[in-house]
Amino acid sequence: MSTPDALARLRALQADDLPVHGGRTLAYVYDSGLADVDRVGREAVAAYAGSNGLDPTAFPSLLQMENELVGFAADLLNAPDEAVGTVTSGGTESILLAVQAARDSRPEVVSPSMVIPETAHAAFHKAAHYFGVRTVVVPVGDDFRPNPWAMGRAIDGTTVLVVASAPSYAHGVIDPVTEIAAQAKSKKVRCHVDACIGGWVLPYAERLGRDVPEWDFRVPGVTSISVDTHKYAYAPKGTSVLLHRSPELRRAQYFASARWPGYTMLNATTQSTKSGGPLAGAWAVVTTLGDEGYLALTEQVLDAVEAIVAGIGEVAGVRVVVPPDSTLVAIACDETLDPFTLTDEMTSRGWYVQPQMSFAGRPATVHLSVSAATLAGVDDLLVALRDSVAAAVKAGPVVVDPGVVDFIAALDPARLTDDDFEGLLAASGLMGDPDAGLALPERMAEVNALLDVASPAMREALLVAFLDRLARPARE
Ligand SMILES: Cc1ncc(COP(=O)(O)O)c(C=O)c1O
Repeated sequence: MSTPDALARLRALQADDLPVHGGRTLAYVYDSGLADVDRVGREAVAAYAGSNGLDPTAFPSLLQMENELVGFAADLLNAPDEAVGTVTSGGTESILLAVQAARDSRPEVVSPSMVIPETAHAAFHKAAHYFGVRTVVVPVGDDFRPNPWAMGRAIDGTTVLVVASAPSYAHGVIDPVTEIAAQAKSKKVRCHVDACIGGWVLPYAERLGRDVPEWDFRVPGVTSISVDTHKYAYAPKGTSVLLHRSPELRRAQYFASARWPGYTMLNATTQSTKSGGPLAGAWAVVTTLGDEGYLALTEQVLDAVEAIVAGIGEVAGVRVVVPPDSTLVAIACDETLDPFTLTDEMTSRGWYVQPQMSFAGRPATVHLSVSAATLAGVDDLLVALRDSVAAAVKAGPVVVDPGVVDFIAALDPARLTDDDFEGLLAASGLMGDPDAGLALPERMAEVNALLDVASPAMREALLVAFLDRLARPARE
């Protein structure tokens, strides 16, 4: 292809994706609504796309930008002078490294474990899986927060890490960090605060006079914090900051290998060669916006959340699951409507909201990650919500065929075969033309309802089988 043709093809492909601008995509993306900020981020990514973060002596500008970005984050989170940090590729990598460093700092522990609230992000389960760390999961109460004393009681001689969220993704509430960190400190165990999604909002919310419980490095016992710049710092995708209270706490995160004839590999992150683009993009956006810019954006996003919460209160059939502490809103539906139909209806009206499956005896909900750019469209969003609720009530409940429910119940998630998966696709009517591959329906309510009746282990197995089908080489 010629360059113009390739670029035209790229644009055509991208047209099928969710929009990243406009504030109407309420998961996955975070929109400042500021064209100049987007432009500076994009140009910085492009300028550094070929630079390699593998070796800071070869690309000293990347080291300087990393130190400046970590310094900004350390100031923001009230870190002590001796605090250090690393720019990673995202929230999951920051969490993986926090868990790995905690494990490797305690090599004497034979079967290491970590104590996490049931609402902790799935990245902790991924870290447990990758690093052989057991999860000790503490349930949350009616306020969707764990009891800190229950967390304390769950700590034993194998515990290498205790976790709190600020806030949790699914419900948007801040865990009792002060009490949880005190429990960890009294037992000399590390405490990580996952502020991946709230860490760039809450400090400004506090400065704006909002009521924010203490959660950052001012809390004794908090040893590390993750905060994602590719979320509410409104930077291009691909960066997060992992801060440790001291260099000693970070040491085990580093990896070096001189056991081969090439260059000595020396990494602070899981990646070795890594593009300088995301770091440059984050640096450029944070430098452009600065504290003043983030204060204004935080005021906008919190005003949007307030208006959305108030608006939800006026729509019969839906309610906010729990008053949000930051920028995430979870919506519950009463028995008159199905949450998965509601998400489809919102999508068809140009508002992408995210379905959340039922879990631990609690019903399915609808998730909104609100952006600063959403403020301008809040009235439209509430009209769409009202109309979507009416349409979902009219459509009635989504009933999963009892035969399909039985089919799923009879399957063993640990041994799901291709034949099982195909049988399920056929039974549920999802298998279109077998030669054309998987046919994704326009509306997802039936698929989500089907997943919702499956156990978490079965959901995992089905979705892995599904992803495996999607990810097949496109060959001539
Ligand atoms: C609280 C929290 N932790 C961790 C993550 C994982 O971040 P990422 O998707 O950047 O890996 C998220 C993502 O939404 C999050 O909300």
